[in-house]
Amino acid sequence: MKTTLSIIKADIGSIGGHVAPSTQVLDTVRKHIHLEGNGLLLDFFVSSTGDDIAILMTHTQGVAHPDVHRLAWDAFQAGTAVAKDQGLYGAGQDLLVNAFSGNVKGLGPAVAEMEFDERSAEPFLMFAADKTEPGAYNLPLYMAFADPMNTAGLLLGPEMTKGFRFRIMDVNYTQGDRVIELDAPESLYDIAALLRDNDRYVVEAIFSRSSGEQAAAVSTTRLHNIAGKYTGKDDPVMLVRVQKNFPATGEVLAPFATAHYVGGFMRGSHIGPLMPVPRQTGTSYFDGPPIVSCLGFCVHEGKLTEPVDVFAHPFWDEVRHRAATKAMEIRRQGFSGPAMLPYSELEYGGIVSILERLDKQFRIRPAAKPTPVAV
Ligand code: 13P
Ligand code: 13P
Ligand code: MG
Ligand code: MG
Repeated sequence: MKTTLSIIKADIGSIGGHVAPSTQVLDTVRKHIHLEGNGLLLDFFVSSTGDDIAILMTHTQGVAHPDVHRLAWDAFQAGTAVAKDQGLYGAGQDLLVNAFSGNVKGLGPAVAEMEFDERSAEPFLMFAADKTEPGAYNLPLYMAFADPMNTAGLLLGPEMTKGFRFRIMDVNYTQGDRVIELDAPESLYDIAALLRDNDRYVVEAIFSRSSGEQAAAVSTTRLHNIAGKYTGKDDPVMLVRVQKNFPATGEVLAPFATAHYVGGFMRGSHIGPLMPVPRQTGTSYFDGPPIVSCLGFCVHEGKLTEPVDVFAHPFWDEVRHRAATKAMEIRRQGFSGPAMLPYSELEYGGIVSILERLDKQFRIRPAAKPTPVAV
């Protein structure tokens, strides 16, 4: 029996701005999955990070299954109705179409899924980030799966020394899925050359080269490419299987101690440090900072254990302090230079009309004639 893990995530409204969903909305989503998922799911877990609700589901239907996707879509619709009743901000924000059509991909919610034969013990991590984009996971994944400075298992783990295969998506391409597969360690520089560009190239999946098994799955949605206008950042979710033939939990978590700068933050238009936080943490300073939560689970015959909230550990307090300092530092320079995302990423914001208007006011000044020199 193969087990499938599916995370489907959406922002369907929040309290006090883009901060956090209400308890009533969360309960509605949870209740819907509990009642309607009977017979389809083996287990599920609903949580929130910032203003996003993530539904983790286990089942045997394989990835992209219409019934599983519909279940999550309907749960978000039910939650949206409550969000509207409560007058929450951005009710139904990520549900971009009225009718469900077989798969939530392209309809607004973010999706990360994996199907595999369970190992005798199957530990995995569920990540959810808010006020950032899918490329926020690029650096942590590179460090965890390709860098022996971070991951001792690349040297010590006999099943890991062959390295990992990265599947990377060009998320700017909108006609279909444009992907490339590159092997670490041989193609390390090629991988790095792509992954430096978080806006465009995003790790979609990682596979063990010794067994071929999938280790990681990341959501790669680009909301503004779907909606044709800016509707919110594509706050990403990720699944990572850990231990044995994969990096250890701590090796996957360690890169998050960098609190690296990512795109997102206020109005999805700035750069801010990614702060690791316990689950159900909202956002605050400058609609941020960008946050990431991580829950550890084991799954056995499709049944989930209770989660362990790994970023709730006291170690991360120090990282959070550093992230807060980094956030305030970059905010000191307001709109200037690297504090804000480049024009291409602000394509649908008000700044476009300002720049279009100003463009017409520019004039080309005739080159000054050189003054003749008296002889
Ligand atoms: P334990 O000895 O606590 O099982 O840890 C093993 C390990 O490899 C930790 O990274
Ligand atoms: P979300 O994408 O999390 O809804 O945030 C949008 C925003 O504009 C925050 O300032
Ligand atoms: Mg929102
Ligand atoms: Mg969000």
